[in-house]
Amino acid sequence: LYIVHIAAEMAPVAKVGGLGDVVTGLGKTLQKKGHLVEIILPKYDCMQYDGIHDLRALDVTVESYFDGKLFQNKIWVGTVEGLPVYFIEPHHPNKFFWRGQYYGEHDDFKRFSFFSRAALEFLLQAGKKPDIIHCHDWQTAFVAPLYWDLYAPKGLNSARICFTCHNFEYQGTASASELASCGLDAQELNRPDRMQDNTARDSVNPVKGAIVFSNIVTTVSPTYAQEVRTAEGGKGLHSTLNSHSRKFMGILNGIDTDAWNPATDNFLKVQYSANDMQGKAENKAAMRRNLGLSSADDQRPLVGCITRLVPQKGVHLIKHAIYRTLEMGGQFVLLGSSPVPQIQREFEGIANQFQNHEHIRLILKYDESLSHAIYAASDMFIIPSIFEPCGLTQMIAMRYGSVPIARKTGGLNDSVFDVNEETIPHQIRNGFTFTTPDEQGINGAVERAFNFYKNNKESWKQLVQKNMNIDFSWDSSASRYEELYAKSISRARAQAS
Ligand code: ADP
Ligand code: GLC
Repeated sequence: LYIVHIAAEMAPVAKVGGLGDVVTGLGKTLQKKGHLVEIILPKYDCMQYDGIHDLRALDVTVESYFDGKLFQNKIWVGTVEGLPVYFIEPHHPNKFFWRGQYYGEHDDFKRFSFFSRAALEFLLQAGKKPDIIHCHDWQTAFVAPLYWDLYAPKGLNSARICFTCHNFEYQGTASASELASCGLDAQELNRPDRMQDNTARDSVNPVKGAIVFSNIVTTVSPTYAQEVRTAEGGKGLHSTLNSHSRKFMGILNGIDTDAWNPATDNFLKVQYSANDMQGKAENKAAMRRNLGLSSADDQRPLVGCITRLVPQKGVHLIKHAIYRTLEMGGQFVLLGSSPVPQIQREFEGIANQFQNHEHIRLILKYDESLSHAIYAASDMFIIPSIFEPCGLTQMIAMRYGSVPIARKTGGLNDSVFDVNEETIPHQIRNGFTFTTPDEQGINGAVERAFNFYKNNKESWKQLVQKNMNIDFSWDSSASRYEELYAKSISRARAQAS
């Protein structure tokens, strides 16, 4: 198949969180399975340009419409992780992707509706005929209504549209009048069975639009797919998902096992594998040295946490876990940053408090290289999310021999299984889980993990080695996407004949 992903992120060149990892990991695996896969991204000024190979501008520019005018877009092409990527650089006076950051601008709705339309315009003008156009999250959700309203009638009609929602918290809702900028008919679409937000009548909801107008709708784990179909979990979209349930399903993400491989990871001080664990101890020693943590007790467990600091991730529980770890005789390293100024400030306060502490370090920034070092150095990894569509850090942690302590929600519920859970087969038990998102809940799990670590050295080692060998690759999940794509294409053919 010819599959085009239109997305706002792609690891490692334009990554904010897991979305970037997924676009690359799924794309690479589909390519390996023999499909032609291409990615379309905005050309951000803040990308990691050294990860893009053979970047060059195409000779022709692409014209796209916005706010009633035509704008030229320069199209760049390059290769990222072996995948061909087209980058769209709009010549628009608002300099949409020249802002020094990916998201969080006052005009994000405009920036990404512009991008969605320009991406489709590029496919049309370049004469491309993809079988599947796969868009991700609210930023490219506009692709679905734009495709059926404007581009299929213009002849870009070979494709089925797949939409993956990585997080229903972010829906991109805006005043209905904003929609007209990208050429969508606000009056037509601002209806309850189309893009009208389910709670705010004068607003349109891009995610709802993509659910309604796509042929395939997925989210990133089976448990989260169930949660969002309930009033508590659906962030206002449960009724829409329930009316479109036949085309909606949850597929658990994988991780890119080439990028996340302790045996070949160039970010690490020493590489290691499940059969040769000495390197993990050396990474732990190096991290303690580099961060100025005490090395006095070799046996002291190191707890890692790498996360965006947003309420979804259970920030109050993360804070609590720092103090509890200290009381239990462990060390804690947190790497994270927050788009919410108040949360960022709060953590800066804690970071200062522990500035010279021998067992605690908080590093409040985004740092790819340090993230690899922490996965490798830590013995345990904490993910106390309030909700979690999938979560990749628990899988990466396990691949690096760090045992997850996680709240049972969303994709964590589908990938972390408690060592004491009687109803779960022994061979798939891999971590420590808790259910109630309060201090008592997390205390229980942290304490059980520490006691296991201290009192059952041999079993702990076996658990770590077993976890490192779990297959978290994209292989089986990419096959699920292949099946969905193929089914949708054959349904379309059957309808056409
Ligand atoms: P989300 O997408 O909700 O942030 P995921 O668990 O799906 O959560 O993915 C998070 C990804 O971002 C992982 O690859 C993780 O290592 C990475 N990450 C998160 N915070 C940081 C940070 N401060 N520095 C480096 N990498 C980070
Ligand atoms: C979102 C979710 C996270 C998921 C990631 C990739 O950012 O918060 O749970 O793993 O997308 O799908």
